[in-house]
Amino acid sequence: MNEKLKREMEEELAKLKEQNLLWNPRTLNGPNCARARVDGKKVIMLCSNNYLGLADHGKLRRAAIAGIKGYGAGSGSVRPIAGTMDLHIKLEELIAMFKETEDAIYYNSGFTANSGALPAILREGDAVISDELNHGSIIDGLRLSKAERLIYKHKDMEGLESQLKTLVSRPAKPNRILIVTDGVFSMDGDIAPLDRIVSLAEQYDACTYVDDAHGDGVLGESGKGITSHFKLHGRVDFDMGTFSKAFGTMGGYIATAKVGKEYLLNKSRTWLLTGAHGPATVAASIMALEMLMKDDKLVRKLWRNTKYYKKRLKEMGFDIGGSETPIVPIMTYDAGKAREMSRRLFEEDVYALPIVFPMVAKDKARIRTMITAEHKTEDLDFALGKIEKVGKELGLIS
Ligand SMILES: Cc1ncc(COP(=O)(O)O)c(C=O)c1O
Repeated sequence: MNEKLKREMEEELAKLKEQNLLWNPRTLNGPNCARARVDGKKVIMLCSNNYLGLADHGKLRRAAIAGIKGYGAGSGSVRPIAGTMDLHIKLEELIAMFKETEDAIYYNSGFTANSGALPAILREGDAVISDELNHGSIIDGLRLSKAERLIYKHKDMEGLESQLKTLVSRPAKPNRILIVTDGVFSMDGDIAPLDRIVSLAEQYDACTYVDDAHGDGVLGESGKGITSHFKLHGRVDFDMGTFSKAFGTMGGYIATAKVGKEYLLNKSRTWLLTGAHGPATVAASIMALEMLMKDDKLVRKLWRNTKYYKKRLKEMGFDIGGSETPIVPIMTYDAGKAREMSRRLFEEDVYALPIVFPMVAKDKARIRTMITAEHKTEDLDFALGKIEKVGKELGLIS
């Protein structure tokens, strides 16, 4: 490697190390499941987004194998050339059916959906208003667009309305105004007031884009997500989500009107210029949706587990912030305590990660735990016992 480049990279990495921000990911030695093996150790998994326990579900494994038997290992092309198989079309039809929209477009990931669709939707002369805590893929997508960018304080509907008012009262109004929000915020597990956002959008003739990555399979009827939770069918312009969390596989999507799909299909570079997902992933994703559309028992189990876990944490005296979903932060406020808690929990066979600055504000450090439908009550009891023990050691509870 070029000597100067090498030295500069080493300097940057040393800075990150000094700030305790260097990633050194642990390794799974098997499937991602409630009782996982991580770095050679059996642990209760409390930090995966595998909300419905589908990542290692037998039906998805079998669907993936059948996909490979029927269609091979790879797609062999980008979607617009020779990579669109009838499997991709079936999946897009199912997404639209599940999300109750006219149509849907499937991307390789949620990240590429946001980073490709947003710059395609937003052109010069447009404006976008985005919640300050939106996911990095939204931030990157907006940075790639030529639209004017405005940020509103987290879930601050008065702030959003005042920005809308300012934009529409300018002599040179933006051509298009788009409001973008996460559905469920991944650091705090709180839910966006999408009903109020949509009403404001309708009042000011703006459009709406919601990232439902953590609401899919979790919120609403049969886990249909945030639009179902707030009964907003047909009123959200772009309903984006991912298969990498509750659905247990990989791939992003945008459920939208027919014209929205056709537009994105022609305009978003992260769809046009990348090889299509292979048959195993697509077939397993189809299976995940079919399972949910037939039976919502996993969603119900997820919520039973979540309620039980949160109630026990509160009884112990932990502060779990404003969580309204299976994403449950355990607030330590202090970054050192969050890191120490994670380290001690791992020693005690529980895997949960600390979330510290810059992922959250400096004084809002926490351990972020996430519950799945796959956890048995004894798994949760085991983890809760260890959390209580370590919480007492660190003086978080008495
Ligand atoms: C809110 C949100 N949006 C988008 C993504 C990206 O999704 P994917 O993992 O499919 O790239 C994530 C995942 O980290 C997320 O949390």
